[in-house]
Amino acid sequence: MSTIFVTGGAGFIGSALVRLLLAETGHVVVNIDKLTYAGNLESLDDCAGDPRHVFSHTDICDRAALDALFARHRPVGVIHLAAESHVDRSIHAAGDFVQTNVVGTFTLLEAARAYWTGLPPGERETFRFHHVSTDEVFGSLGATGLFSESTAYDPRSPYSASKASSDHLVRAWHHTYGLPTLVTNCSNNYGPRQFPEKLIPLMILNALAGKPLPIYGKGENVRDWLYVDDHARALRTVFERGQVGATYCIGGNSERTNIQVVDALCGILDRLRPRPAGRYGQLKTFVADRPGHDLRYAIDAGKIGRELGWRPQESFESGLEKTVQWYLAHQDWVGHVQTGEYRHWLETNYGERK
Ligand code: NAD
Ligand code: DAU
Repeated sequence: MSTIFVTGGAGFIGSALVRLLLAETGHVVVNIDKLTYAGNLESLDDCAGDPRHVFSHTDICDRAALDALFARHRPVGVIHLAAESHVDRSIHAAGDFVQTNVVGTFTLLEAARAYWTGLPPGERETFRFHHVSTDEVFGSLGATGLFSESTAYDPRSPYSASKASSDHLVRAWHHTYGLPTLVTNCSNNYGPRQFPEKLIPLMILNALAGKPLPIYGKGENVRDWLYVDDHARALRTVFERGQVGATYCIGGNSERTNIQVVDALCGILDRLRPRPAGRYGQLKTFVADRPGHDLRYAIDAGKIGRELGWRPQESFESGLEKTVQWYLAHQDWVGHVQTGEYRHWLETNYGERK
């Protein structure tokens, strides 16, 4: 059994990836996570008893801890998702984003390089460092056009600038040191276990609580939505078969304005959980726009389709229905996030500690 490091595996996408790797591969997964407000061990409840899941409560900025993990577990590769991920937070507290996304990625790259340099030749060749990034590094599109692997970088928020910096570091470590890297840039994810600061879970939970549904500006901004398990499958595909040094864009081919997303959610809730006070759409409220709000993101995912055969399995409609059903059926997870109880690990001794 070989070992993979997943950073940020207690987060939304990371926990989906950990679940997929445990279910569909024989790897041991060492899950390296600092457990910020976005890290939730309850998102990994179904992996907790699996002996192939090793949780390490570690900050990716801690070089000594990372060195010890590489020495102890001797992984065949790293899939790096740990990050500060929310654009609105980055506008208010950019320092955390620079620290984790830039300094943390640099620290992880250096620890991985030191470990990789000491590997025997065969293992050096097969080692992979897969950096998980975002389509936001490409900036904002007008009404037409798509981002692709050849689109120039033009990040415009503190979050996207920090992710762009980390992408550049990863590519530099490949070109300069030969570290076998992969970069993926993905569009907006949605699905179960997403922290309710992001559009879709925020709208579901506000609607169920009868609270206003805050739509920034005119709600005309467009995102390309991808179901989280489709992203996890794409990450596994790229990690296993991607060309060293290459970048792959990942997207759902599901462009929607924010208004369309909220209307679709309200329609599903009207059907599944009718509201005596009236239709959920009545809760829509237009609020001040996000500063520097990018107008439109859309991905050309042709390369990963042609070269690696990956395509999304979920349509936006089927994925959204599953997502709403998951939040309705998992009031424990939701309640613990809302009360803060999901941070119960503070009093327990979960998994491996450094
Ligand atoms: P998330 O915020 O849900 O989870 C991030 C995880 O990283 C959390 O578990 C957190 O505890 C951990 N973390 C944060 N700082 C850390 C540190 N210093 N050391 C160790 N762990 C730390 O994020 P997500 O939405 O799951 O995104 C995961 C990755 O995918 C990020 O790199 C993000 O930029 C990228 N991405 C996200 C989306 C999206 O739509 N959510 C789309 C494309 C790319
Ligand atoms: O494109 C990929 C990116 O998608 C990821 O890299 C980020 O980690 C992820 O957070 C996401 O960024 P966005 O800013 O697009 O996602 P968010 O859910 O915050 O917002 C989606 C859209 O909805 C955006 O146009 C802003 C709008 N919005 C968001 C919130 C939270 C609202 O109108 N109201 C809201 O309350």
